[in-house]
Amino acid sequence: MKKVRVGFVGAGGIANVHLQHISKNEMAQVTAFCDIHEKTALLKAQEYGGAAYTKVDEMLEKEPVDALFISVPPFAHGDIEEKAARKGIHLMVEKPLGLDYQKTAKKAEIIKQSGIICGVGYCLRYLDTVARAKEYLLDKKPAMVRGHYLSSFVTTPWYREWEKSGGQLVEQSTHIVDLARYLGGEIKQVYANMSLQVHSDVPNITIPDVTSMNFVYDSGAVGHIDSTFAQFDHRTGMEVMGEDFRVVIDGGNLTIIEKDSTISFKSEVDFYEEQDRMFIEAIVKGDQNLLLSSFEDGLKTLAVTLAANQSHEKGLPVKVSSITSPKITWEVK
Ligand SMILES: NC(=O)c1ccc[n+]([C@@H]2O[C@H](COP(=O)([O-])OP(=O)(O)OC[C@H]3O[C@@H](n4cnc5c(N)ncnc54)[C@H](O)[C@@H]3O)[C@@H](O)[C@H]2O)c1
Repeated sequence: MKKVRVGFVGAGGIANVHLQHISKNEMAQVTAFCDIHEKTALLKAQEYGGAAYTKVDEMLEKEPVDALFISVPPFAHGDIEEKAARKGIHLMVEKPLGLDYQKTAKKAEIIKQSGIICGVGYCLRYLDTVARAKEYLLDKKPAMVRGHYLSSFVTTPWYREWEKSGGQLVEQSTHIVDLARYLGGEIKQVYANMSLQVHSDVPNITIPDVTSMNFVYDSGAVGHIDSTFAQFDHRTGMEVMGEDFRVVIDGGNLTIIEKDSTISFKSEVDFYEEQDRMFIEAIVKGDQNLLLSSFEDGLKTLAVTLAANQSHEKGLPVKVSSITSPKITWEVK
């Protein structure tokens, strides 16, 4: 069987994780790297084999890749996705999909029309425990959701800059916002408070380190997410509550609590490994449905987090529809 030829755009932190899995995947072969830092691209090419580039256009022109992992920082997506999609190259794009809703919505349209397989790195969806939670919640009506992403400072230089990362909620805690959507439904309104409390001495920091976001679902259910990088350790989780039930996700652990019963599960998978394996399988089988997060869906999570940023700036609740509308129909050439 012909292997899926995989290229990487952005060969930094998270690309290393994907590389560990893709390099071991029997259906895939890593063939090219592109990073604006030549040394980074060269080092990865040396380690895993393949060609090294510093310009995406040149790589797309010269390398016959079937699929790309796009693992660049939020501000650096440019037009990589649309160029690749127009060439029929399948994509796994890291979250967040960008920082500008309308530009990202246009990409979504181009990707849809191209017919490529496209996944987004909302990797928590690939936890076996999250799959169990989703299945349990199928016939349930969540009334309230509480989530948290409580972590420590990320030293990557672009992370601390609002214009480059979009702040912690857009960049990191987006995983929990995405999970709140995945398990609870669509979010229609947010109200967020953010502040820089602990890390104000970090040079060039322009992002808040504590965030508290209230939200309302289309269903009328309400929710809340806490997010900080002012801690020394890492905790993520969520509680989905309804009449006589509580679904508690604590990292990789899941507990389903009803009035008279408590069942616990411990995850047995590496969510990155699962996601990357499913991406290659989806390409081989030509089946987008194997992927748990599509570009179109990832765009909806982006909209919620951008609405939260706007709410923080305005000091007011913000409707997610004010970010997503007017719905522009893009003329795709
Ligand atoms: N899914 C997850 O759990 C997860 C975890 C970590 C990071 N991420 C996401 O991955 C993205 C990258 O994060 P990271 O931690 O790997 O960052 P990083 O800074 O470690 O790596 C990014 C790499 O991209 C390169 N780069 C920047 N602009 C480029 C361009 N235009 N063309 C080619 N290369 C370019 C940089 O030189 C750098 O090597 C972010 O959006 C982040 O949120 C996702």
